[in-house]
Amino acid sequence: MKLHIQKSLVGAALLTAFAMTSGAWAQNVKIAVAGPMTGGAASYGEEMKKGAQMAADDINAAGGINGKKVELVFGDDACEPKQAVAVASRLIEKDKVAAVVGHFCSSSTMPASEVYAEADMLMVTPASTNPKVTDRKLPSIMRVCGRDDQQGVIAANYIVDKLKAKRIAMVHDKDTYGQGIVDATKAQLGKRGVKEVLYEGLTRGEKDFNALVTKIKSTNPDLIYFGGLSAEAGTLLRQIREQGLTTTFMSADGAVDASFATAAGGNAALKGVLITFGDDPRDNPIGKAVVQKFRASGFEPAGYTMYTYIGVQTVAAALKSAKSSSGAAMAAWLKANPVDTVLGKKAWDANGDLTVADYVVYQYKDDGTYAKVAK
Ligand code: ALA
Repeated sequence: MKLHIQKSLVGAALLTAFAMTSGAWAQNVKIAVAGPMTGGAASYGEEMKKGAQMAADDINAAGGINGKKVELVFGDDACEPKQAVAVASRLIEKDKVAAVVGHFCSSSTMPASEVYAEADMLMVTPASTNPKVTDRKLPSIMRVCGRDDQQGVIAANYIVDKLKAKRIAMVHDKDTYGQGIVDATKAQLGKRGVKEVLYEGLTRGEKDFNALVTKIKSTNPDLIYFGGLSAEAGTLLRQIREQGLTTTFMSADGAVDASFATAAGGNAALKGVLITFGDDPRDNPIGKAVVQKFRASGFEPAGYTMYTYIGVQTVAAALKSAKSSSGAAMAAWLKANPVDTVLGKKAWDANGDLTVADYVVYQYKDDGTYAKVAK
C-alpha cells in the first residue's frame, strides 16, 4: 500500500500514529551521515551521529518525508581523504542514499564532494569551513556552517583590537582546514598591520611537539594561534604549559569539542583559552526543546551536534519539496527557498554558503565549558 501524506496536520498525525504503531512505512528514504566515526576526531563523529539521529527521529515522528521514513546510513571517513572517497562511492553505489550530510573535515569533504558532484548527489556539510568547499561552485555541494575567511577575520580583529597582541606565533596541522584557518587569520592580521613571528606546521597524529614548543618559546610570543583539530590542539597546549609558557592560546572551531580538554590534560588546562565558533547553537531559543531533549538523554549537544541536526533538516526539506532526485536541482531549490531549522531560518547564496555568518569569540573556563567574550 502506498501512503500519501496529507497536507493537513490531522493527516500527518494520523499517518504518524499509523506508522509508529504498525511500524509500516510505505518506503524508506536513506540519508547518509559521513564523518570521523573512528580515529582522532571520533568525538566529532559522535556529535554528528547524535545530532543526525535526533533530527531523523523528530522528522519521522512528524510523518517522515512525504510519507517515507528517514533511515540514516553512517559512513566513517576517519578524517582521512582516501577513506572519504571510498565512503562516498559506497554511499552512492551500494547504499543508494538520497542525500548526504557530511563530511566533517574539510580535507575529507573536498575529495568526497567531487564524487558526490559527479553523481549529482546533494551533499550538505555541517562542519567543513574551508572556503574551497563551496568556492569550486559544484552545483550539488552546500554547507550549514560558516567559512574560515569569515572566522579568521573575527579572530584577527579580536587579536588586534581586544588582546592587542603583537608577537603572534602561528601553528597549523598542514591539513586543508588547519592551514586554511591559520592563513585566513594571518591575512586579516596582515591587513591590520600585524605580521606573525612564527609560522610552522605540525603533523596530525603525532604526540611529541616539544621541539616545536622550544622554537615557539624562542620567539617570545604574546599569543599562540593554532589551526587544527582538538587532539593536536590539546597535545600542543599541554606541552606548551609543560615547558612553562603561560602565553594565551587561541584556536578555532576545530578545537570546540571535549577531546580538546582530554588531550590537554583535563578541563582546567583549557582555562583562558580562546576559540572562534558560530554563535552557540545551544543558546538559540528556537532549538530550546531539542537541546533539552538531548540533555534529558544524557548527551550535551555541544560542538557540531546541532549543526548536524540542521544538516539533516536541510536535506530533508529539499527531499520533500524539490520534486527532483537530482542533487543539483535539490541544491537549487535550497538556494531559492530558505529552510526553517531549529537554529532559525537558514538561507543560502548561489555558491551554497549561508547568507549570514555568526562567528564569535569564546573563552574556556576551568570546567571545560566556554563562554562568549566578543561578537
Ligand atoms: N571546520 C573544520 C573543518 O573544516 C572542522 O575541517
